[in-house]
Amino acid sequence: MTSMTSIELRQKYLDFFKLRNHAIIGSASLIPENDPTVLFTTAGMHPLVPYLLGGKHPAGSRLVGAQKCIRTGDIEEVGDKTHHTFFEMMGNWSLGDYFKKESINYSWEFLTDAQGLSLDKNRLAVSVFVGDEDSGFDQEAYDAWSVIFTENNLPLERIARLPKKNNWWGPAGVTGPCGPDTEIFYWVGEENKVPASFNDDNNSWVEIWNNVFMQYNKNTDAKFELLQQKNVDTGLGLERTLAALNGLDDNYQTDLFINIVHKIEELSGHKYGEDVETTRSIRIVADHLKAATFIIGDDKGIVSSNTDQGYVVRRLIRRAVRYGRQLNIQKESWTKDVAAVVINDYKEVYGELEKHQQFIFDNLDKEEEKFSRTLENGLKELDKIIQDKKELTGQDLFNLYQSFGFPVELSLEELKSRKKSSSHNYVLKADTGEFLLQGFAAEMKKHQDLSRTASAGRFKGGLADAGDETVKLHTTAHLLLAALRKVLGDNVVQKGSNITAERLRLDFSHPDKMTPEQIKQVEDLVNGAIKENYTVSCEELSLDKARQRGAMGVFNSKYGELVKVYSISHLDNYKKPNLKMAFSQEICGGPHVENTGILGNFKIQKEEASSAGVRRIKAILQS
Ligand code: ALA
Repeated sequence: MTSMTSIELRQKYLDFFKLRNHAIIGSASLIPENDPTVLFTTAGMHPLVPYLLGGKHPAGSRLVGAQKCIRTGDIEEVGDKTHHTFFEMMGNWSLGDYFKKESINYSWEFLTDAQGLSLDKNRLAVSVFVGDEDSGFDQEAYDAWSVIFTENNLPLERIARLPKKNNWWGPAGVTGPCGPDTEIFYWVGEENKVPASFNDDNNSWVEIWNNVFMQYNKNTDAKFELLQQKNVDTGLGLERTLAALNGLDDNYQTDLFINIVHKIEELSGHKYGEDVETTRSIRIVADHLKAATFIIGDDKGIVSSNTDQGYVVRRLIRRAVRYGRQLNIQKESWTKDVAAVVINDYKEVYGELEKHQQFIFDNLDKEEEKFSRTLENGLKELDKIIQDKKELTGQDLFNLYQSFGFPVELSLEELKSRKKSSSHNYVLKADTGEFLLQGFAAEMKKHQDLSRTASAGRFKGGLADAGDETVKLHTTAHLLLAALRKVLGDNVVQKGSNITAERLRLDFSHPDKMTPEQIKQVEDLVNGAIKENYTVSCEELSLDKARQRGAMGVFNSKYGELVKVYSISHLDNYKKPNLKMAFSQEICGGPHVENTGILGNFKIQKEEASSAGVRRIKAILQS
């Protein structure tokens, strides 16, 4: 068994593919650019969607990287050995370059060769798409694997043929690139007990790599149309692979977690592995505080709030505090001690964490304190209710949650421990609290039905439909940012954007509420730029060049790759963009309209606070 650190593994992966002519790309932000349907980057391919759909990537047609990802869909499952909110996905991509056979060969070579990970070949199994009415049996992938398995004297029964549920990936949202995939599994069970065939139900086969053959685009009619180019999108989970490499069947024991776990042990006086509940709580605290640290520490800096990404941060911190409480952590302001370990462990790879260290600490402190107060007030109220009433109902707990933000799980815990420890004579209908929980859920459902919002489903992965209207609003967002800087000054930088077919939303740094005059000035500037009928042009530049030019955008890359800069300007006599006089220059993946003249009339509908020091504008185009 090889033993390897996470830093070595990441580097080995990048080097392996670099040697095979892949350009290394840095991780994109955790907050997707211009994607209204999803809060976080959920896969390595996410920032690459425009290129998978046919746009030319400035770094070429073979890419490799490690991407920070957040998935909130499984938040309730965190606590076992393998689920995480934050994780890293290593990936290699072919944009219309190589396809199935080469991709499979590369993967096999990386996993088993001495130049790669030297994993035991006998512990590997794979699956391919069995075929259905949308797309036939993936013979090409099967053939590539059967050559490899035959050459290595491995049973062909370890090449499983599975349906869409298993062997199809994407689109990440309702529409977008997708296709059949082949998955690679590693046996984490006993070495001499590797089964002759692959069985999807056996948890000892852990999926480590997914190679997606993105040959389709699922369109708005739910039809699969062939893409102009055949792409490969792969995802190799860093945490799982690291565990497998080091002979561990628990990701929390790898170097990506172990220091965090130790810190929580120190704070709580408990030991990881002591019992099932303790272990689960420690994992949840470790996972949630790592994820919160990464989201707050992203260059797009999100702070806890009641909406969107900020709400996820809030939820993560509060859950961590709650489980910390279960672990009996007494110290005040402790979440930042855990964050300090995360920052230290990851700073070499993700320098933004160290850069934003103080910001991360401050936000954690604030949220932790706020939640502690919530808990105190909630407990007092619970005491009152208990004194007033003999029989508690789910509605009582719902009211407590609704008015005091007091989590129902805590209510139940409190009730249980009080009943155990003293002479309380209130009645719990069922000892398990099941009755209360059902009552609570019923109230909650009533309430949700009343306040169902468009944000339902937002926590799932999903990609924007780049319809005409969203493209128009995207270009308008560039005009708006430039206009804001002209009116409010160069301190204005973009903090987030979200575009639907109906409106655009832009968050930007600015300390004060805008005056009606400033709003009018910005509208006039944008409408003026639309009337100028500027040309939108795109160039590929190094980050340094882009910075020298004064282009707006996030400048954090270690790999010196080229980026796309979109300029909005008139053309000069040589039909080149006149950049000295450009209205806007921004690093961005596109897509954009060609000329601003078609945008219509720009109108700001709302200007409001988003979080401390950040304002939010909602605006529309009227035809
Ligand atoms: N995009 C693929 C995944 O997330 C590789 O599994």
